[in-house]
Amino acid sequence: MNDTEIRSYVEAHAARFLQELEALVSLPSISTLPEHADDVRRAAGWLAARISADTGVPAQVVETAGHPLVYGEWLGAPGKPTVLLYGHYDVQPVDPIELWRTPPFAPTVIGDSLYARGAVDDKGPTYAALKALEVLRATTGTLPVNIKILLEGEEESGGQAIAAYVRANPTALAADCALILDTGMIAPGIPTMSYGLRGITYCEIEARGAAGDLHSGVYGGIAPNPIQALCWALAEIKGRDGRINLPGLYEMMRPLSDAERAVFAELETQATQVLQDAAGLAVLPGEAGFGVVERATARPTFEVHGIRGGFTAEGAKTVIPALAVAKVSLRLVADQRSDAVRELLAARLAELQPPGITFTLHNLQGGEAVTFPLDAPPLQAASAALEAEFGRSVQYMREGGSIGVAALFSEVLQLPGVMMGFGLADDNVHAPNEKFHIPNFYAAIRSVAGFLQRYGGGS
Ligand code: BES
Ligand code: ZN
Repeated sequence: MNDTEIRSYVEAHAARFLQELEALVSLPSISTLPEHADDVRRAAGWLAARISADTGVPAQVVETAGHPLVYGEWLGAPGKPTVLLYGHYDVQPVDPIELWRTPPFAPTVIGDSLYARGAVDDKGPTYAALKALEVLRATTGTLPVNIKILLEGEEESGGQAIAAYVRANPTALAADCALILDTGMIAPGIPTMSYGLRGITYCEIEARGAAGDLHSGVYGGIAPNPIQALCWALAEIKGRDGRINLPGLYEMMRPLSDAERAVFAELETQATQVLQDAAGLAVLPGEAGFGVVERATARPTFEVHGIRGGFTAEGAKTVIPALAVAKVSLRLVADQRSDAVRELLAARLAELQPPGITFTLHNLQGGEAVTFPLDAPPLQAASAALEAEFGRSVQYMREGGSIGVAALFSEVLQLPGVMMGFGLADDNVHAPNEKFHIPNFYAAIRSVAGFLQRYGGGS
């Protein structure tokens, strides 16, 4: 089978493929909210049933200590490589719900886009890969490679279950490469493969002062203020020059090669434009001395995600709060291990603790950075498939986001990773009005089918 046959099958079944994706994104599988646990499970069951029915790969829901995994395998191509296909079927919460123009779990097509929570992250790309298997099986009666499908239901909320599963089952999961569909494109129409992901350590800093709230008329000027203490500490940890003041952090980094820096420089103008336009920003401020591409993908970050404490309702209340909390994360690049960096943060906070205030650091989640080799054979097959699909050469890049399990595919299973990206900068990942560019859904189906075909030695 060749690319033309793949194309005509996708065209003939395009409407149904989209309807199926709409059914999947209408399931509110928000992994971080306990009240949606049943919805997460429903999505797992739905996927296992569809995979088994459509692709010929028998799949099942695998129970874990957390949300279930979906696992399927078909090893009917002896002598051919084995591809471990990864995706996640959980999604982010929908808040702020009032900013959605269409309900997040009532998928809506507007123009070329499918609007729904999870449309691009990651149900659309994951489902595209599964449809690629259907395309190949329906048109050739078989699959060109052996397939192991491993789908996760808690990527957005920690990924402990899949980490334990990978560590416990290295033999069962043995493969020749991991195919990860959960990344983006540098710009519309430019086939993009990512070879790196950042790691992350996500924590909560708790600042405690007095045992209870105090009147600021009685205690103003003499009591410790935890919100103020938190602000001082956060400002010390990252100054206005964008540098992160955690002694040891930059020393842990693997240096970039000149070749990589050259690629960053090539991408700089276009990437800056795309990222500014998508976010409506006139400037992209950050660490002095580094370009946008390097800062967005290959430098560590320190960001504050939220602060709570004190009186925030309408009106005035003269109170010195007893407690303040900040949610923060550091994005990490190889070889900054998340545990080690969290220790640096804890040590720095201990130094920055003002009199009368206690800082406590709580670990919420972590994941390791990974870079995959650029010369692995499956990458050639994937590039060729993407080039055939988009009619131009592939752009390689690092991704600034994190996928917890990816480093385990490399470290535990020793697999090279193939990351074909289909998300666009304006797809509103994790935000209201998330969407998937529908032409990219079909491009993803054809590209994955083309990749597997080529990797299996077909035309
Ligand atoms: N699909 C993203 C990873 C990603 C983000 C790829 C941006 C490309 C661009 C993934 O689902 C995700 O959001 N991961 C989280 C992991 C975190 C919760 C540990 C992330 O990066 O914030
Ligand atoms: Zn994702």
